[in-house]
Amino acid sequence: MDAIINRKTSKVLATTPWTPSLSEGEREELVQELLTLAAAAPYHYESTAKYRNDLASGLPFRCYVADAARCRAAVDYAAAQEVQAGKISEMLNAAEVLFVVTWLPDTFGEPVVGREPIPFTGNLRNMEHIAATGAAIQNILVGATGLGYPNYWSSGGVLRFDPMRSYFEVPTEEIILGTLFVFPKDAESRADEVVPGKLRDKGKALDTWSLIV
Ligand SMILES: Cc1cc2nc3c(=O)[nH]c(=O)nc-3n(C[C@H](O)[C@H](O)[C@H](O)COP(=O)(O)O)c2cc1C
Repeated sequence: MDAIINRKTSKVLATTPWTPSLSEGEREELVQELLTLAAAAPYHYESTAKYRNDLASGLPFRCYVADAARCRAAVDYAAAQEVQAGKISEMLNAAEVLFVVTWLPDTFGEPVVGREPIPFTGNLRNMEHIAATGAAIQNILVGATGLGYPNYWSSGGVLRFDPMRSYFEVPTEEIILGTLFVFPKDAESRADEVVPGKLRDKGKALDTWSLIV
């Protein structure tokens, strides 16, 4: 319960690249733990068979995981490619791990060539694929919080699109629901700036969004 209540957006900004705080073994353990939590999320429908190739699971989502070194290299790559990555670069300078989480749309309409399939078909299966992916994401965020790692769910900004999307090996047929930044435990004291979520305290009064019927 505490981890759910304490989960909050922490956009940790660093103007210079940080040395990772975890050893490779510690980071691998963290990643395995958080992915295991994601896989524990409820899901209603398996993804369509076309997605089950290199990654064979029927789960309706996929997760592309980058360690601190790859995040730091992404900052250099963005600069070399003249991508205006702004605050995303500052968060890549600080992140211990980045999870790019996609969901896998059923495609019943025209195939979309060369970009992620937005708009996607609005149907029950796709709605429930997104819901399951959101649940998996929340598990990662709550898990990271419980373990003491500040974190942030971003829509992804420039990471959604090439060249950054390809840099993180995210297929164009999948739709990014979140790029999750997991920062070092001591990030909040080390950061140049930590920006909270804009809507953190808005709309929370229970009687303004719930009704006993
Ligand atoms: C689907 C989704 C996408 C989000 N994308 C962004 C984003 O791109 N930029 C941002 O500043 N916050 C983003 N957020 C975080 C929200 O701003 C944040 O959750 C909200 O302000 C409430 O703050 P809290 O997370 O501290 O409770 C996103 C949240 C969700 C659920």
